Amino acid sequence: MQLDPGEQQILDGEFGETRQKMMEILVALGKVFGAGRLVEIRSAQVSGASYKTIGKYGLEWLRSLDARAVVPAILNPVGMDRDRWREMGISPEFSEKQLEVIAAYARLGIRLECTCTPYEIAITRYGEHLAWSESSAVSYANSVIGARTNREGGPGALAAAIIGKTPCYGLHLLRNRRPQVVIDLPAGYPFDSARYGAMGYLAGKIAGNRIPLFRGIRPAADELKAIGAAMAASGAVALFHVEGITPESRIFTFSPDGLEQVSIEAAEIDRLFTGMAVEAVAIGCPHCSPRELERISILLAGKKVKKPLYVFTSRTVRGQCPALVAMIEQSGARVYADTCMVVSPAMEQFRAILVNSGKALAYVPDMCGAMVRIGTTEECIAEATA
Ligand code: F3S
Repeated sequence: MQLDPGEQQILDGEFGETRQKMMEILVALGKVFGAGRLVEIRSAQVSGASYKTIGKYGLEWLRSLDARAVVPAILNPVGMDRDRWREMGISPEFSEKQLEVIAAYARLGIRLECTCTPYEIAITRYGEHLAWSESSAVSYANSVIGARTNREGGPGALAAAIIGKTPCYGLHLLRNRRPQVVIDLPAGYPFDSARYGAMGYLAGKIAGNRIPLFRGIRPAADELKAIGAAMAASGAVALFHVEGITPESRIFTFSPDGLEQVSIEAAEIDRLFTGMAVEAVAIGCPHCSPRELERISILLAGKKVKKPLYVFTSRTVRGQCPALVAMIEQSGARVYADTCMVVSPAMEQFRAILVNSGKALAYVPDMCGAMVRIGTTEECIAEATA
């Protein structure tokens, strides 16, 4: 990989040991994936933030680093709400370690937004190069905004944040962003956010790591978020196009005849919405937007929850919507920030959970050891208040 003189100086250790290590990570990634050079990034988003997932060795590695991010860099969700962890049932031992992880990232100049929806709070524009690591955020950035990022691992995104650059390969190059499989969807199907998430769960299994082009749907922003998050979890999809909706679907001229064409039937989606009784309900994977908080508050108006109902969002969005949060919490539901049903140990106390997310449907069984069922947001609220 070709380095310019400044990059070579960093690699030679002239700007300290941590920057040298970070450049070594970027060069190693670049060599593995055949990058010709590094490209400057507008922002980074760094995963590996929950003590539940990185453990003591991850924390030791973070503590060994001594440099600061040179571009805006946002932290992924951690294992607890930083203010309300006791209420979540988090142990003091876990909390202590989690706070040490957060302090280590703060020392590295990473913004402690603790969210998987950085696009709700950081301006990200079409065509910008990024180094984001949370798979649902990567999918949203690439597909809905038209920015360019590979699906970085935690160390790769942190290295990019500290150097301000990332290897230029994969989805940073326009030629690698063409549709690779066409997925047709049932005409007239009553799609909503959860059904889009369920469809994404099925589509991710079909697409694997290919780039799908969907035909026959007109999803809004939060629904595109649900599709991308689910496909990134059940498959490894980092970019998708929706004909006539997503920005890059308009720039590729292609013949669907040359691509595999697959259909997802209404019955396949409907089948995911049946199943067992649940003990708790969790909404907010990915983190709720203000629009989603509003919808939940309307559905909960005048009701009391009879089963635990957790709503997850970012600290910034929770702070922007105090009235909506108060209305939701009046029902007995809880709106937690910084964390989620997957990366927090709080949900491990339940044996069966209802979610409205295709990504949570894919991850909760392994990450929380619980059975999971998907329902619409309306069904989630009805279940919690019945
Ligand atoms: Fe976000 Fe947690 Fe889902 S990080 S995408 S809410 S698994």
